[in-house]
Amino acid sequence: MNPLAVELNEAIAAVNPHVLEMLSDMGKSLYFPKGILSQSGEAKKKATKYNATIGTALENGMAMSLPSVMAPLAGLTPNEALLYAPSDGVLDVRDAWREKLLHDNPALVGKAMSLPLVTNGLTHGLALLGDLFVDEGDILLLPDKIWGNYRLILELRRGADIRQFPFFDGDGFNIDAFKAALAAACAERSKVVVLLNFPNNPTGYAPTEAEGEAIAEALIEAAEGGTNIVAITDDAYFGLFYGEEVMKQSLFTKLAGVHPRLLAVKADAATKEVYVWGLRVGFLTYSIAGADADGPLYEALMKKTGGCVRGMISNCSRLSQKIVCDALLSDSFYEQRAAKVAAMEARALEVKRVLADPKFAEAWTPYPFNSGYFMCLKVNGVSAEDLRVRLLDAYGVGTIAIGETDLRIAFSCLEVEQVQDLFDLCLQAWNDLR
Ligand SMILES: Cc1ncc(COP(=O)(O)O)c(C=O)c1O
Repeated sequence: MNPLAVELNEAIAAVNPHVLEMLSDMGKSLYFPKGILSQSGEAKKKATKYNATIGTALENGMAMSLPSVMAPLAGLTPNEALLYAPSDGVLDVRDAWREKLLHDNPALVGKAMSLPLVTNGLTHGLALLGDLFVDEGDILLLPDKIWGNYRLILELRRGADIRQFPFFDGDGFNIDAFKAALAAACAERSKVVVLLNFPNNPTGYAPTEAEGEAIAEALIEAAEGGTNIVAITDDAYFGLFYGEEVMKQSLFTKLAGVHPRLLAVKADAATKEVYVWGLRVGFLTYSIAGADADGPLYEALMKKTGGCVRGMISNCSRLSQKIVCDALLSDSFYEQRAAKVAAMEARALEVKRVLADPKFAEAWTPYPFNSGYFMCLKVNGVSAEDLRVRLLDAYGVGTIAIGETDLRIAFSCLEVEQVQDLFDLCLQAWNDLR
């Protein structure tokens, strides 16, 4: 093992040995190299005459650039737009995201957590967590309603042993099934990775405050029972909450800093929250009881995670980070965001209004939804895939079939006035197949 990795492991174990136990073999071996990056960092401070360290091209003290590249980037300097970013991200955007986390989740104020580390979107954040915390055969607890890419990211790439529990119990989150699945996993293993995604893809459900509380209690109880828990919240659709009942802060607020055997990891992204899907800016934030915000444990975890970024993609787009950072720091960011949330909520409410019509009752049952981009129909009598294909071929309507029965509708892509027609066409297609 590289001596730098040994140093980081010792730093982690000195604060909390359970965190070292949670790391995968790769996680234990990871370190942040002292090669070009640190030598160049040193040169940045001390090389006052010539800095010939890093593989960028400079001209007149600025990044060399082609006018054709800079033309659409009016207002940005070549340095802001084109230079490499640090592997753990540009400090300004990390600070700005942290401020946004605190603004949106006031329960985090005063809690010790790491600075968010920049990832190339949330997918990349989850892949990093897989490398850091999942070994072949490690249990990964998921509900039975998931974003299918978890399988590629964590099962295929890292060999996670996925265990699933039924997501719904009637109109709400199935807390009993979650607890039972968690207890069974803890009885088998000394470490369990739990990944929960609210607002959920594909169903568009997020827990109520009481459900969130019960989920957190179950995880804390598991940690108290002596199992090391890595609890990842996938907050991809955070902020898109509709109605009074739904919990408005991240589940992460209830898991951060609560127990020394419970490592809470917030995986989130500007992707959906800032409406910048292709810019690829995501974040990872860690929190565990007993570690100081600026202390050695988070520093070591950040170095390992940054080392993992370095070895995978080197660093994330500086231009994307700059765009997101400027948006977050804009005076009207929260106002602009609220307008978009209101537009999405209007669509969700229209879906609810339309689906309340009893004419649909025989064809499907909608799963409960209160958040996010999607809702799902549990289709009766015909296969979801047959319905999808019929909708597409006969009516030019695209939807997503998941498993035998579920049809996912991204109402995020529909204008309010298109909702009625879409569900009418769904019913027509369903009738065609009957
Ligand atoms: C639940 C969930 N997590 C993560 C992602 C990936 O987000 P990103 O585009 O930032 O990688 C998605 C995107 O569809 C998602 O639905």
